[in-house]
Amino acid sequence: MKAVIYTKYGGPEVLQIKEIEKPAPKDDEVLIKIYAVSINDWDWGLLHGDFINRLLNGFTKPKRKILGSDIAGQIETVGKNVTKFKTGDNVYGDLSGQWGGFAEYTCAGEKKLALKPSGMSFQEAAAIPQAAMLAVQGLIDKGSIHPGQKLLINGAGGGVGTFAVQIAKLYDIEVTGVDCTSKLEMLRSMGFDHVIDYTQEDFTKNLQCYDLILDVKTNRSMFDYTRVLSRNGVYITVGGSLPRLLQALFLGPLISLISKKHIRIVALKTNKDLLYMNDLFEAGKINPVIDGSYQLHEVSDAFRLFGKGEHKGKIVITVTNPHTL
Ligand SMILES: NC(=O)c1ccc[n+]([C@@H]2O[C@H](COP(=O)([O-])OP(=O)(O)OC[C@H]3O[C@@H](n4cnc5c(N)ncnc54)[C@H](OP(=O)(O)O)[C@@H]3O)[C@@H](O)[C@H]2O)c1
Repeated sequence: MKAVIYTKYGGPEVLQIKEIEKPAPKDDEVLIKIYAVSINDWDWGLLHGDFINRLLNGFTKPKRKILGSDIAGQIETVGKNVTKFKTGDNVYGDLSGQWGGFAEYTCAGEKKLALKPSGMSFQEAAAIPQAAMLAVQGLIDKGSIHPGQKLLINGAGGGVGTFAVQIAKLYDIEVTGVDCTSKLEMLRSMGFDHVIDYTQEDFTKNLQCYDLILDVKTNRSMFDYTRVLSRNGVYITVGGSLPRLLQALFLGPLISLISKKHIRIVALKTNKDLLYMNDLFEAGKINPVIDGSYQLHEVSDAFRLFGKGEHKGKIVITVTNPHTL
C-alpha cells in the first residue's frame, strides 16, 4: 500500500510517499481502507519533533513513522473479537496515539471508531474527530455554555474555532471571533456576530467582557484573559504556548479563588462525542469547514499550507475516492 512516511523530524519536506506492507488487524482490531484523513496541529508537532512530541514518539527519530489521526474509511476486515462493526461498514475516528492515517490502510481498535452517517462524506467525517471533540469538550464540558452568554473564540478560523461557533449558536450565544485579516470574511459568513483582527487589535485591551473565552492559541498571560472575563466568567484553553499553558495550570486555581473567574484546560477525550456529532450533522446543525482538496501525494503541500496558518477550517486529504473504485 501507499503511505506517507517520515524517518526524521523536520519540515514538510521530510514526508515521503512510499510503498509499504499492508497492515493486518489483531483480534480486537479492524482493517480500514482509508478514504480521507485530515491534518491536526498535533501532526505538525509530531512532524517537527518538539520536546513534548519527542517524549511521545522518540527522542532522536520518530518511532511511529506515519502521521495522521483523524481518518474516515471503510472496514475491509474485522478481527475475531470485534463485535461492534462488520466488513463494509463506513467508519471514522481519531487514532491519535497510534496515528497511521496518511496511508491507504490502517488498523484500529473498535472503541476508536464510530459509524459514519450515510449523508456525511468521508471528507466531512475526517474533518470532525479531534477539532470537534475539542470544541464540544471545551464549550460544553468545561465551559457549561448556556443561552444568553457572550463567547470569544481566539484562533477562530481553524479547525476548533469553526466547529465551536456552530456549537455555540445552538445555545443562542453572541460570538466574537479573533483571527487574521484574511479569515474575517469567512468568520462573518459562518455566523460570528463580531470579528477581531489580531493583527490590528488586542482583544485583551479593549473594553468588552466575555462570559466564556475558548482559546486555541493561548498566547497571552492569564492576567490578560481574566481582565476581559466577566464575573464568574470561564476561560478555557485547548492548547497553545507551553509556558502559557503551565501558567494556566498553576495560576488557574489561585485566580479562581481570588477573582471568581475560572481558568480551565481541556484534556482531550478522543472520540467521546462522535455520536453527538452524528446527531448534529444529521439534523443539519453542523457543517464541517473543509479547506482545499488534496491527494495523498500532496500531503507535503498540505502541511506547508497548515504551517503557514493559511487554512480555513480543516485541511482534508482524499486518500482514495470511493466513487472512482
Ligand atoms: N487539549 C488537548 O488535549 C489537545 C489535543 C490535541 C490538540 N490540542 C490543541 O488544539 C489546538 C488545535 O486548534 P485548531 O485545530 O483550531 O488549530 P488551527 O486549525 O491551526 O487553527 C488555529 C487558528 O488560529 C489562528 N491564529 C494564529 N495566530 C493567532 C493569534 N495570535 N491570535 C488569534 N488567532 C491566531 C490561525 O490563523 P493564522 O495563523 O492564519 O493567523 C488559525 O486560524 C492546538 O492548540 C492544539 O495544540 C489540544
